[in-house]
Amino acid sequence: MQTINVKDKSFSLFIPEKEILKEVKRIATQINRDYAGKEPVFLAVLNGSFVFAADLMKEVNLPCEISFVKMASYQGVNTTGQIREVIGLNVDLTDRPVIVVEDIVDTGLTMAHMLEVLKKQNPASIDICTLLLKPGKLQVDLNIRYCCLEIPNDFIVGYGLDYDGYGRNTRDIYTLVK
Ligand code: IMP
Ligand code: MG
Repeated sequence: MQTINVKDKSFSLFIPEKEILKEVKRIATQINRDYAGKEPVFLAVLNGSFVFAADLMKEVNLPCEISFVKMASYQGVNTTGQIREVIGLNVDLTDRPVIVVEDIVDTGLTMAHMLEVLKKQNPASIDICTLLLKPGKLQVDLNIRYCCLEIPNDFIVGYGLDYDGYGRNTRDIYTLVK
């Protein structure tokens, strides 16, 4: 079994690049069909989605734009909870069909917050496109239209996804050895 070390942990090969790219192509084909005649704005959520977004865009043959956004968390002054805002959004989404591109939906809380923020810009529509989904961990009701692969609740790295900032630069996806 092929294993890699990322910082202090070991990970074993889980999804080979070939399988990932097959699923990315399948999802791009669906988007090309569903969005025929439209000009979507892809909003890729950094950092994790940069590899997926690049491979996805190479398979999308629609007239479209892509922009990269980031969810920034900070402790608010005089508040106990974390304040989270979307930074880098420099495209006018008014009346545009938007496709949010994520690496992974785990609890779904990040995506739910993202949708809340984006809806304030009055887009024509918003669809979610995620590389990975952990259905066993989902806590909110997200209507996920495009999902490449569903995975178990384990922690994974590679193909853009990180463990403590490292491990994003592998072609394949690896799962934590317990
Ligand atoms: P959520 O808000 O719980 O859905 O968390 C989503 C974010 O957590 C993703 O965008 C990832 O950055 C990170 N994340 C969740 N699961 C994993 C994993 O297995 N490996 C690496 N990052 C993960
Ligand atoms: Mg992410």
